[in-house]
Amino acid sequence: MAKIAVLGSGTGSNFQALLEEFADEIVLVISDQPGAGILEKAKAAGIPTALEEGGPRLSARILKRLDGIDLICLAGYMRLVKDPLLSAFPKRILNIHPSLLPMYPGKAAWEQVLADKAEVTGCTVHYVDAGIDTGEVILQEKVAILMNDTAKTLHARIQIAEHRIYPEAVRLVLKKMTGGAL
Ligand code: GRF
Repeated sequence: MAKIAVLGSGTGSNFQALLEEFADEIVLVISDQPGAGILEKAKAAGIPTALEEGGPRLSARILKRLDGIDLICLAGYMRLVKDPLLSAFPKRILNIHPSLLPMYPGKAAWEQVLADKAEVTGCTVHYVDAGIDTGEVILQEKVAILMNDTAKTLHARIQIAEHRIYPEAVRLVLKKMTGGAL
């Protein structure tokens, strides 16, 4: 069975969605934020956690903890993944982003979309490369923008879609990794 590590900085709702489907596979949660909800959620679920705050050799420190891990899922992780971590997991690091990439990469994408008066947005699961939200797309779901949407209501609806496509994308990637034998 594949072993998955989840990295996150925030509330951890995507982690929770992944956990519902991959309770046996998720074996570690790492955060850079001491008070992050994702750590609380992991602890409540009995999953080992680690705190790796920013600073020198962050990627090397994280990598050291990932012995035996097959797949990394970023779930609201607010840092760039760099070497040596990045090259140790080629096509083995996924991220969820709240827009239809390549449109609106970067922070608070739902605010950028509203400012642009766009009619549709969505979310994307993609492989992580050295750029900001530039890796190959695995799965996307569209989300309509409603007339009265605020940043909060739009983000909440995008998150509902995220919680659908992230587990689905992980399933696809695991299937590829095991040659379809899942
Ligand atoms: C999500 O909207 C995700 O797209 C972005 O960060 C947010 C994380 O939310 N990368 P959560 O911590 O999973 O609730």
